[in-house]
This record gives sequence, structure tokens and C-alpha cells, in this order.
Amino acid sequence: MYILGIESSCDETSIAVLKDRRVLSNITANQEIHAQYGGVVPELASRAHLQHLIPTLHKALDVAGIRLPQVNAVAFTQGPGLLGSLLVGTSFAKSLSWSLDVPLVSVNHMEAHILSNFIEKPGKEAPVFPFLALTVSGGHTQLVRVDSPKEFTVLGETLDDAAGEAFDKSAKLLGLPYPGGPLIDKLAREGNPNAYPFPKPRVDGLNFSFSGLKTSILYFVQAHRESDPDFVQSNLPDICASIQHTIVDILLDKVRLAVQQTGLKTVAVGGGVTANSGLRTALEGMKDREGWEVHIPDFGYCTDNGAMIGIAGYFKLMGGDSTALNAAAMARYPVGS
Ligand code: KG4
Ligand code: ZN
Repeated sequence: MYILGIESSCDETSIAVLKDRRVLSNITANQEIHAQYGGVVPELASRAHLQHLIPTLHKALDVAGIRLPQVNAVAFTQGPGLLGSLLVGTSFAKSLSWSLDVPLVSVNHMEAHILSNFIEKPGKEAPVFPFLALTVSGGHTQLVRVDSPKEFTVLGETLDDAAGEAFDKSAKLLGLPYPGGPLIDKLAREGNPNAYPFPKPRVDGLNFSFSGLKTSILYFVQAHRESDPDFVQSNLPDICASIQHTIVDILLDKVRLAVQQTGLKTVAVGGGVTANSGLRTALEGMKDREGWEVHIPDFGYCTDNGAMIGIAGYFKLMGGDSTALNAAAMARYPVGS
């Protein structure tokens, strides 16, 4: 079965062709326009999706080596995300499904980040249910118990900023351009993660909080700049490594607690922040140190991509689900609902 996966929830237009669980192509058009505004401008994102969808589809079909009439199903991101962006992708997916007369399948973007761990790859085992999932993206940070491809229970989530937002806002305070997460990652590689200890929040249970970190970074920068205006510029690698270390620690403390509370030792991660090298290394370390079985998506399936929408669509189709042509895009769409 050939499945198209269409992702348009934020600022990436991405389309993949899957043959069952195998990815034949996964083409992403990034929207550079937002960098000059320091964040995603929703109206501009919607317009860019309109421009990018057709060329991205052509490229995805070419690379996969199939023609449009061979497509057997169309999966698309129904939410959560920016409403305008979702409306563009939803309308496009519906038109394709209707004109090709093939099933339409709606997908929850955050569930898809989790299910990206099921993309087939030689030598890579998929997680076995039930397992724990940590989703870390620009808008969400959640710990989820996953009992099957359609049974998701949120165990904890951020009370304020998401992990990706913590990276991006910290970067902004350091004067780095948007999106700051990948830049902090790059600079952190040259720095000392223990150079500047930032405080970790005290939050009960399995919820997260990142807004305190942002405030402490703000005060830290202000205090040091008073005595040395070039302080940030001269110490960027150490500052970035310390910030990254703190964010990774906050995340792993909660995963450790979730493992203790649930007894589940299989941990799968997903979302843009799983591209972070510090988080990936720390998670790999947990295999030996804590005996966890850890699943991390390949680099190309961490940030928003059509392949994860395709694999989530595949599971829905296998479960006998499809979506009516009057489906609406949903800016808010809780995991497991
Ligand atoms: O999942 P995603 O692509 O989009 C959303 O669904 O939000 O996640 C985007 C987030 C951004 O905040 C971005 O800065 C962060 O993921 N990100 C990273 C890295 N790559 C992307 N954060 C830290 N290190 C990275 N290497
Ligand atoms: Zn995402």
C-alpha cells in the first residue's frame, strides 16, 4: 500500500511516500521567511504552505518513483498546530483523496511524533507495547503511556513553556536567531556543560516547567553584562552547553520518575528536540546505566516531517479507520482524544 503523509502544522511543508511502514521519500520545504521576525508568523506560514505543497508533492512522488494514481491513501495532520497552516494542508489532503477516490486519514501530530519510532529500517527494532513516550517539540512536552497505536494516556506535561520553546527563548536571550534550538546544540558541542549551573524547577509528579529557567537565564545575562558587555559573546559555547545540560536533565529526571512509577522500561522519544545531540547522548547512556530500552527516531524524523504522518496513517488504516471528507482542522487536539 502506498500512503502519502502530508504535514503542514507549523512552518515546514513536508510530504512523504510510504510503502506500508517503509519510507520511499520524505521531502521537506523549510520556510526561511520567519527567521527575520524571530519566530513563526502564522499568516506567512499559511501562504508559504500554499506555495510549497504542489512542488513538494511532485518531488516526493519523483523520489519515491511512483505516479499520483498509484497512491492508495492520503494521511494528513489534522492538528494540533497553527490553524491557517492546518487548513491549507487539510484542504489539500481532502482534494487529493476525493479526486483519487482513496481513503483520507486524519492524524494527530503529537501521536505521529511518537509513532515515528515505527518507521521501518533494517537493523532497527520497533518498540513493543506498552511503552513510555517523551514528546519534546516547539509547542509540546509530554510523557505519554502508549498501549497500542491508538491508545495514548498523558501522564504529565509542561505547565508553561515546551522544551523546544525553552531552547528557542534561551537562544533569543543570548541574541541568537530563530530557531535557536539547533544553534544552541551546535555551540554546546564546544562548551563545558558544568560551567554555569542553572537551577532546576521543583515540580511535583510527572509535569514539567521551563519558564523559571528562562527567567534565570535573563538575570544571569543581565548580571554578567553589567561588568562585561561582551560576556555572552565571549562565553557562548559554555553558556549554551550549560543551558542544554539543564534542559536535558529536567527532561530525564521526569522520564526516570515515570519509569519508576509505571514499571515500564521501554522509552521512545519524538519531536524536534530529539534532534538535540545532548539529549540523544544522555538517552543512549540510560541503556547501560538504568537498563532502559531506548528508541530514538533517525535524525530526519525528529523535526516535523511527512513520514511520521504517513506511518501514523498506516496504523489507522490497518485498524480500519478512515476520515470523512467533512473533517475540520483542529488547532487544539489533545493526544489520545
Ligand atoms: O517537532 P518540531 O519540529 O515542531 C513542532 O511540532 O513544534 O519541533 C521544533 C522545535 C523547535 O523549538 C526547535 O528549536 C527544536 O525543536 N529543535 C531543537 C533541535 N532541533 C530542533 N532543539 C534543540 N536541539 C536541536 N538540535
Ligand atoms: Zn512537531
